[in-house]
Amino acid sequence: MSDGSSFYITTPIFYVNDVPHIGHAYTEVAADVLARWHRQAGDDTWFLTGTDEHGQKILRTATANGMSPKEWADKLVAESWQPLLNTIDISNDDFIRTTDERHEVNVQLFLQRLYDAGYIYTGEYEGYYCVGCEEYKQLSDLEDGTGQYEGQLVCKIHSKPVELLKERNYFFRMSDFTQPLLDLYESRPDFVQPESVRNEIVQFVKRGLTDLSISRQTFDWGIKVPWDETHVVYVWFDALLNYATAAGYGYDQEKFDRLWPATHIVGKDIARFHAVIWPAMLMAAGLEVPKQVYGHGWLLVGGEKMSKSKLTGIAPEQITDTFGSDAFRYYFMRAINFGQDGSFSWEDLSARYQAELANGFGNLASRVIAMVTRYHGGTVPPAVESALTEADLAIRATERRATKAADEAIERLAVHEAIARVWELVDELNGYITLQEPWVLAKDPSKADRLATVLNTAVHGLGTLTVLLSPVLPEATAKLWTALTGTGTVQDQPIRAAWEWTGGARVEPLEALFPRIEVDAS
Ligand code: MSP
Repeated sequence: MSDGSSFYITTPIFYVNDVPHIGHAYTEVAADVLARWHRQAGDDTWFLTGTDEHGQKILRTATANGMSPKEWADKLVAESWQPLLNTIDISNDDFIRTTDERHEVNVQLFLQRLYDAGYIYTGEYEGYYCVGCEEYKQLSDLEDGTGQYEGQLVCKIHSKPVELLKERNYFFRMSDFTQPLLDLYESRPDFVQPESVRNEIVQFVKRGLTDLSISRQTFDWGIKVPWDETHVVYVWFDALLNYATAAGYGYDQEKFDRLWPATHIVGKDIARFHAVIWPAMLMAAGLEVPKQVYGHGWLLVGGEKMSKSKLTGIAPEQITDTFGSDAFRYYFMRAINFGQDGSFSWEDLSARYQAELANGFGNLASRVIAMVTRYHGGTVPPAVESALTEADLAIRATERRATKAADEAIERLAVHEAIARVWELVDELNGYITLQEPWVLAKDPSKADRLATVLNTAVHGLGTLTVLLSPVLPEATAKLWTALTGTGTVQDQPIRAAWEWTGGARVEPLEALFPRIEVDAS
């Protein structure tokens, strides 16, 4: 059995019907920052992401493009989804595709076990299906269409018409799990977070669960139901299992025991699948439910949930080509309170880049390195411990306080708060240098001791910042670590004791971490 000590974190697996936009990248970065933090803290960390490749939506897109669904999925994975991970510097340990054999075989194994245990039966279903959501919809999820869809019922999420389907399918006895799920939410209030998503889920389950149709017979792009190959497995049932099949379920028990259960980071649009259907499936199979399901907010563009289908999609490269991947990561993690919706705007991105990254952190780094080079020939002097002032001690205290506060925020998945706490050190260090005026001290040989202490304090604080910001700004901090001649790599520095970092006695030249960006006004 799992002892719960590993940190296994996942993103949703993304549909390959289209290319990634910044909403997908947002989830990836959030999970990546958490994974990098835990890894750097020495926790047994495993970070999984991947792609969701079965179902009607992919089949239709592939057909419309004159390809088989597998050819289409291969193309999108190779040309768009894998490259996305490089574009935004994702440190995933594994990438699962639902067309992987390890997945397909073990989805069948799981399903067979549920069947043998009596949780599956045949039934009939008639209802409205949204192919965009890959889900049967209640009337309350629909609205009257407008424009080209006038007179039709459309899905509120996709604004596209739903289809009335009547099928004979296999059903999962999900209704059996209404009470066990309510007990779970009650006994583990952190199981679904944030609070707003938790409340919505609890209300939904309190109304009582219906059984879930888990197979389809009208098309064949999916995993075959093992005891009846005329059916394919419902795409969500298939997709949710990726978290188990990637972790060794069915073929590597040792790995599964080590990793499971997971922390799932998902958008709130799909929290219900993860916090209701998925734990019910796991309970039916006698497996542990996830550690936590966190449903983050939406990126809004022009006040609406950004999406390709509504033509508000922005590709991540549109941002990283100009601002770089670190700025992308920083901006979305800092500007949006994780858990809430947040609006994206180019103006806000540019303003924060300039004020916080270029003038705040970047400038601090270049000033400190330049001062040690100019006033001390590039060697970092020791501080005169017997003559520390309150200002010096305050910086040391902030290094510890920021580290602890940030770690505590990460434990709550409050990524924005963790960055804000670390940024207190950026601001304090900038203020410290302004007040201590090392350029004045450098002119007076009798102040050599004081200059040494100030330079040492500034370098030490900067090193602590480098360690703390490495999960968010992996590129900039790697350069800075080299300039500080730090020991090993910055990712090797135990983050929960960031202030204990050690570095060489010298500094090396540092290029501008966040260069000025000429905005093309045309
Ligand atoms: N394939 C399913 C998930 C299966 S998981 C077992 C799916 N895929 S998706 O490609 O549509 O991706 C949805 C996820 O992308 C959301 O849950 C969220 O993580 C992210 N986002 C998509 N649009 C987004 C925004 N506008 N804002 C924030 N996140 C967004 O659903």
